[in-house]
Amino acid sequence: MRVVRSVVLGCGSYLPEKALTNSDLAQMVDTSDEWIVQRTGISQRHIAAEGQTTSDLGYNAAKAALDDAGIDASSLDLIILATATPDNTFPATSVSIQHRLGMSHGAAFDVHAVCSGFVYAMTTADAYIKAGLAKRVLVIGAETFSRILDWEDRTTCVLFGDGAGAVVLEAQEGEGTVDDRGILTCKLRSDGCHQKKLYVDGGPSSTQTVGHLRMEGREVFKHAVGMISDVVDDAFSETGLTADDLTWFVPHQANKRIIDSSAKKLGIDPQKVVCTVQKHGNTSAASVPLALTEARRDGRIKTGDLVMLEAMGGGFTWGSVLLRW
Ligand code: UT7
Repeated sequence: MRVVRSVVLGCGSYLPEKALTNSDLAQMVDTSDEWIVQRTGISQRHIAAEGQTTSDLGYNAAKAALDDAGIDASSLDLIILATATPDNTFPATSVSIQHRLGMSHGAAFDVHAVCSGFVYAMTTADAYIKAGLAKRVLVIGAETFSRILDWEDRTTCVLFGDGAGAVVLEAQEGEGTVDDRGILTCKLRSDGCHQKKLYVDGGPSSTQTVGHLRMEGREVFKHAVGMISDVVDDAFSETGLTADDLTWFVPHQANKRIIDSSAKKLGIDPQKVVCTVQKHGNTSAASVPLALTEARRDGRIKTGDLVMLEAMGGGFTWGSVLLRW
């Protein structure tokens, strides 16, 4: 049976120039390189320059993805940006990127699922493509979490960073089997009963302020591995594929301990795990496309490889995307 598949044409990423190391942070709050590395695997994170916004980061990643795909923005018909740190309350940050790409046709909108944002945006793009509503979609994850951190709270400020990543998806015909290139299945979940475990204590309708990120880290940790395994296992059950069939596991980059425990629980060979958290910390919606782009650029991910993406974060939200590159 012929089906429409969303095939990755290219990917790209961008990290701001300034790197903030664990030792730099130890000058600011009561922490140490040893504690941060041992508990999280993070060694440094990048911080946007003064005046550099989420749309600046997203635009740079988008350009890199378009170059990698070898296409021009004029051939896109949709841009979906995942972010929890928009330039402004409105308009959507995606329209700024659309404008900078010289595009005045098609549509652009933001999706907001915090750390799961990229997986939500990929799923949305796949649904548009499958429904025949779009043929070429630019999916971006971009964040400036440095702007919503409480820099006096050592339990959160050491964990997050700024960055952006993007992929271009194109509608192509497949045979309807798991050998097809493109997205094979997507699984999304949320449960608002956990919203106070990871949230920002401000917003336009509640406090009329931007607010700061607040997190019960241990609580998030406790739920993360189970939730990730749930959506990854669902993707395996639906497709009949297993952990052994995977070529690469590209998880949300929040904490190396969560990544390692999830891979172990799912029976995924550690050699297949792409981990970049040490270089940029938790960049929320940007983390999966940052890891994906690094593994593609250094030659690990090749055409035909089976790749599992997953993420979990504020809401809680969580999800997985299984695709053949
Ligand atoms: O994308 C989803 C977003 N979030 C996450 O994925 C985060 C999930 N949670 C985590 O990654 C971990 O829970 C953390 C890395 C946040 C914390 O690690 P933990 O092993 O759960 O540590 P803990 O919260 O149980 O804290 C252990 C100790 C505490 O001291 P006491 O109470 O034992 O005296 C903390 O006060 O470590 C202390 N601590 C720190 N020490 C040095 C907390 N933060 C720091 C710090 N430096 N930065």
